[in-house]
Amino acid sequence: MDADSTVAAAIAARAAAYAPYSGFHVGAAVRGESGTVYLGCNVENAAYPEGVCAEAAAIAALVMAGERRITEIAVAGGGDQLCTPCGGCRQKIREFAADSVPILVCGPDGLRRRFTLADLLPASFGPHNLT
Ligand code: THU
Repeated sequence: MDADSTVAAAIAARAAAYAPYSGFHVGAAVRGESGTVYLGCNVENAAYPEGVCAEAAAIAALVMAGERRITEIAVAGGGDQLCTPCGGCRQKIREFAADSVPILVCGPDGLRRRFTLADLLPASFGPHNLT
């Protein structure tokens, strides 16, 4: 099933995280319209605000490959809490995803909770607001 492989990809991507400051490793997997899954991990920086979230890295890979639509996204973090995308990443996802797109929030051992983009970013501002 697509969702299972997206979840597994996000969990595997966590292993690449560069997070020496927070110690919080995050992996993300975004599926494009073609079916291909693009990976990202968080990349922190000694100048803290310059760090990049896992979702942003994965979206950049999707765009770099020439894709423009996200059909599914999985995010995997550690700890006991849900690793939901930060506010900035919700807006970055919005640029390329419909309200109904699943956002699969995972821990190291698998899926913890399934949201849609509309759940996490209701009444959002997107590309259509500019037309
Ligand atoms: N982080 C992500 O990469 N994605 C999220 O959804 C939440 C937070 C990263 C940013 C930072 O490197 C670390 O997790 C702690 O906030």
